[in-house]
Amino acid sequence: MGCRLLRSWTSLVAAGLLVVVGVETRSFTIDYSHDTFVKDGEAFRYISGSIHYTRVPREHWKDRLMKMYAAGLNTIQTYVPWNFHQRRPFQSDFSGNLDFATFVKLAQDVGLLVILRPGPYTDAGWDFGGLPGWLMESRYVNRNILLRSNNTDYMEAVARWYADLLPRVRPLLYSNGGPIISVQVENEYGSYFACDHNYLRTLRDIMRSYLGDDVILFTTDGAGASYLRCGTLEGLYSTIDFGLTDSPEKVFAVQRQFQPHGPLVCSEFYVESPLDYWGYNHSKQSPQQAAQSLDLLLAYGANINMYMFDGGTNFGYTSGSLPGTGNKVKFVTTTYDHDAPMSEAGDLREKYHTIRKVVYKYVKRPVAPVPPNTVKFAYGQVQMKLVGDIMDVLPSVSLSPVKSLYPLCMEDIHQYYGFTLYRHVSERSYVRQELWLDGIRDRGYIIINKVMQGILVRGEITHLNITLHKGDNLDILVENQGRIFYGNDINKNQKGIVGNVTVGGLVLQHWTMFPLSLTNASVHLGSSVSRLKADSDTSETLLTPSLYIGAFVLPSSLSQPLDTYIDMRPWHKGQLFINGNNVGGYWPSLGPQVTLYVPLSFLKPHPASNTVLAFELESAPCPHTCTIRFVDQPFINKTVNVFD
Ligand SMILES: *[C@@H]1O[C@H](CO)[C@@H](O)[C@H](O)[C@H]1NC(C)=O
Ligand SMILES: *[C@@H]1O[C@H](CO)[C@@H](O)[C@H](O)[C@H]1NC(C)=O
Ligand SMILES: *[C@@H]1O[C@H](CO)[C@@H](O)[C@H](O)[C@H]1NC(C)=O
Ligand SMILES: *[C@@H]1O[C@H](CO)[C@@H](O)[C@H](O)[C@H]1NC(C)=O
Ligand SMILES: *[C@@H]1O[C@H](CO)[C@@H](O)[C@H](O)[C@H]1NC(C)=O
Ligand SMILES: *[C@@H]1O[C@H](CO)[C@@H](O)[C@H](O)[C@H]1NC(C)=O
Repeated sequence: MGCRLLRSWTSLVAAGLLVVVGVETRSFTIDYSHDTFVKDGEAFRYISGSIHYTRVPREHWKDRLMKMYAAGLNTIQTYVPWNFHQRRPFQSDFSGNLDFATFVKLAQDVGLLVILRPGPYTDAGWDFGGLPGWLMESRYVNRNILLRSNNTDYMEAVARWYADLLPRVRPLLYSNGGPIISVQVENEYGSYFACDHNYLRTLRDIMRSYLGDDVILFTTDGAGASYLRCGTLEGLYSTIDFGLTDSPEKVFAVQRQFQPHGPLVCSEFYVESPLDYWGYNHSKQSPQQAAQSLDLLLAYGANINMYMFDGGTNFGYTSGSLPGTGNKVKFVTTTYDHDAPMSEAGDLREKYHTIRKVVYKYVKRPVAPVPPNTVKFAYGQVQMKLVGDIMDVLPSVSLSPVKSLYPLCMEDIHQYYGFTLYRHVSERSYVRQELWLDGIRDRGYIIINKVMQGILVRGEITHLNITLHKGDNLDILVENQGRIFYGNDINKNQKGIVGNVTVGGLVLQHWTMFPLSLTNASVHLGSSVSRLKADSDTSETLLTPSLYIGAFVLPSSLSQPLDTYIDMRPWHKGQLFINGNNVGGYWPSLGPQVTLYVPLSFLKPHPASNTVLAFELESAPCPHTCTIRFVDQPFINKTVNVFD
């Protein structure tokens, strides 16, 4: 940042009015004859790291950014996930943890430049690759919406989103006094089958119209000519991404094929191992190899963004999924910490230090001291009590049920994330007949008159034999475990029950769908919980999906809350909430993730009472050890037994 800045008067067109304001003359451009970026007239090379503001609690943004600065980085890179900002059709939210402008300004305060990746598709193991769930409503799907193409419905939605987003980006551009030096168009588009250059053209033109001609727009694709062929476009600077390599010449030859001149850029250099999925072992990568490979790339003169530098957490319902072998689907864990240099709690791994040592060989600035890790606190055990099974609490957690002849997918009842209970009251009797449901997205708990019958699993278990009498309640609680985030199948991403349910070959008619709203359930459940406290010393075990609640007060010795983890053993599988914060999904019986990260911002200081709500789907350890346990160490690498 040490360049001398000239002051001048520049005119800006804002909100259709010509206004004259004083800004510093700042420029960030490409010098094609010297193959370099140029910042304020001087050659510049970035050494950057990825951090997603959506995966780090706002209260910790500054801590993480300072640690990245201390690693020697001069730049960070972040995605803007459309679906997180527009949870409902066309309604944008930029508040709280979604206040990306504040995040970007904070990076600038810390001394970092910013590379922005506003998609609209943003991949990253995130639900639907950042696309909004409402694009899967039948009104779009029935018209054959083709995502990531110049399709009319899709582009209308993109255009309206960008009309909200991009005017907020413009004042943050480097030439306008902010830290944003470049903006990515789409994301690894060349890996997508549609290969629609008109789509890239339309995006480019929209971005230019909002952002002006000064900012560098670029694309990123896998380091293979077949990817760049579909992913690149005139007017967009072509960059590549790849993992550890011992041959910079070889990988950058691919970029040079499409971008003969200009700086060498790797937009995602993988200093972490591949994503973690439930039911697969935690992956790890050698800190020494990451640093060696980085050293080679920097010696070669490349601009590098390390992905992820701080992985963070998929709080709430934000994890994505990917097709696995056969028809199986694999689901991303709640933690997005798969061995990045910084842990999801911002702790510095050995890899942080090996990388930092390399980076400081190449940056000309005084070595910044490393900030300490945040203190974690083991709050100990919290007694949990059964509130009731999901059927008992429906009136409190599902305020607007929907009726229809055949089941509707979750999107069509505007329940884009989480859980929906589908109810059918049997109109006749079936004895030991096969219930068949192919379209379960993704996991269905089959319950008859409050008795658990079995679980349907997408791509694995599509039927079970049941006995159903006239007048019985057949309930199917369906969990959306996260939409596919990559590949052609993103177009088939409806959730809930997609299709019909048959028993003995007959299609069941007349359904009531209860979208569940659990985030604030502890508030709505207030009266039933106090009733429960009076008479429930004997919590029973229920094998149907049930809600459990507990309360605790932080020790008076702590003047403010500290970060912590919850070790969810021996609970089985479910979703956890603290004080109305959706901490995420847990599945310690499977792994590899066992602990959930709970940032201090989710907790209330002494003497306020904190409420924990667990929606346990399979089997709670009650009444024997009906507790959850706060610990001060993460455990996200449980060995996964293939026979589980
Ligand atoms: C994209 O599609 C629209 C129609 O939906 C069309 O008007 C426009 O010309 C297309 N864009 C390009 C660059 O072909
Ligand atoms: C279900 O019942 C059918 C006969 O009605 C039988 O052929 C089948 O084996 C049964 N399936 C299971 C999983 O019990
Ligand atoms: C469900 O079954 C009804 C009656 O057979 C049929 O009209 C309808 O198209 C089916 N729905 C789906 C999604 O297959
Ligand atoms: C939960 O309640 C809080 C406080 O009343 C409110 O701000 C928040 O929007 C609610 N969240 C949901 C998902 O309803
Ligand atoms: C999990 O990681 C910790 C910390 O790196 C390590 O000490 C432990 O041995 C690992 N456990 C397993 C089962 O891999
Ligand atoms: C996880 O690793 C263990 C020990 O290396 C191995 O036995 C097991 O099969 C692995 N699990 C999976 C799902 O690959």
